[in-house]
Amino acid sequence: MSEPLFDLVVRGGTVATASDVFRSDVGITGDRITALGTDLGPGRKEIEARDRLVLPGGVDTHAHIEQLSAAGIMNADTFESATRAAAFGGTTTVISFAAQHVGMCLTRVVEEYHALARQGALIDYAFHMIVADPTVEAIEEDIPALVAAGHSSIKVFMTYDRLKVDDEKLLDVLLAARRTQALVCVHAENHGIIAWMVKRLLAKGYTAPKYHAVSHARISEAEAFTRLIGMAELLDQPIMIFHVSTREGAAVIREARGRGVKVFAETCPQYLFMTAADLDKPGSEGAKWMCSPPPRTTDDQEALWRALALGDLQTISSDHAPYRYDESGKLMAGPSPTFKQIANGLPGLETRLPLLFDAMVSKGRLGLEKFVEVTATAPARIYNLHPRKGSIAIGTDADLALWDPDREVTLADEMTHDRVSYTPFAGRRVRGWPVTVLSRGRVIVDDGKLYGEPGSGQFLARSGGEAARPAGRLVAEMDPTRNFGADLL
Ligand code: URP
Ligand code: ZN
Ligand code: ZN
Repeated sequence: MSEPLFDLVVRGGTVATASDVFRSDVGITGDRITALGTDLGPGRKEIEARDRLVLPGGVDTHAHIEQLSAAGIMNADTFESATRAAAFGGTTTVISFAAQHVGMCLTRVVEEYHALARQGALIDYAFHMIVADPTVEAIEEDIPALVAAGHSSIKVFMTYDRLKVDDEKLLDVLLAARRTQALVCVHAENHGIIAWMVKRLLAKGYTAPKYHAVSHARISEAEAFTRLIGMAELLDQPIMIFHVSTREGAAVIREARGRGVKVFAETCPQYLFMTAADLDKPGSEGAKWMCSPPPRTTDDQEALWRALALGDLQTISSDHAPYRYDESGKLMAGPSPTFKQIANGLPGLETRLPLLFDAMVSKGRLGLEKFVEVTATAPARIYNLHPRKGSIAIGTDADLALWDPDREVTLADEMTHDRVSYTPFAGRRVRGWPVTVLSRGRVIVDDGKLYGEPGSGQFLARSGGEAARPAGRLVAEMDPTRNFGADLL
């Protein structure tokens, strides 16, 4: 018997990346992939993968974990429970939020989330900094220091009473990001339209969860996208637009990208698989399907799939925002709340990949390579985690999900591993399941059993990278015939 050449060999599987599908063994030494090819020499351990698709572990770049919500409610998951759920769903990297609220010191906020994740996470992680209070100190001291420490993306909200920044402050944040080469991610909806709609709906007695979808009028999305893109263009600052839900919103992004504006965009499974009709349930039950922006129509779903095919949207994230359907979460205001009193958000870390694998691979919509691209490679690239994450190549972290493409599973509340106790996708049957999941060469999930340890996830420090680099569209000096001069920055 010859000496083992690898710590682990995943043998005989079909490897898929964003560009290729090929039969290959995967040799792993320590944390990393060190060989690809057929008939690799023996490993200290071996995983038989002949009937498996060997994919990069998922990279979910939008998840709210152990976070105080816009309404001041602590969400249901800890880093341990959220990353456990992610692992069971084939995801091995997560970017969650360090969420500043008004009056909080951003540096302290980041330290606190760091401490929570260090203790609980069982997959690798990074943070977007939510900036709700862009004080002079935050802009001039905290953001530069924190970006230099590896937190190279900032999230701002254009709506939500407690989190929103107005246009002037948004420009301050865009400029701070430009100076430090960070990417700005934005929840872009028109706050005034939503607030006005909410007031009128409630005054007329339209209080059920389904009116949440009415209150977020479609135009509130496209209007905010247009305004945001205008401001980003003014400063030549790259942006990521989160959770695109409408056909009109996708069209605004397409037009801006066509003009050369550096706009990235994501959508989420809830906008591809759910509609506003899901909120129309007896009593308060529709609260389980309430998120912002709300799910829309089947026509919007088609437009989003097309935008993904065209590359106008590059990533599909979960926007995991977990609240239980009880008095600790969705029903905090009592058993019959108005839609305005219900926390926004859905659990999705665990179901994101199985739902998308079923639609894209098993049912053939856009195919296997595109599935890998939008769920792992493109998010890793945009947030500058690539090539370490999001791909399968020599030298990358051995983060793998081994999929049984034939396993059929009916999603159910009882099978989830987060702390939410329901999934809005219960009852859907999917084909294809991540049976074995590896994080840096360690098996963390196998055949329904958890092997990952809380605290074994590592923080991923990131610089802004290519996505955060300005496109170079500003004129050098103030010029009354042009928009803006770089000497104003
Ligand atoms: O409804 C949602 N998406 N809640 C989470 C907060 C956010 O909007 O990103
Ligand atoms: Zn959002
Ligand atoms: Zn979110």
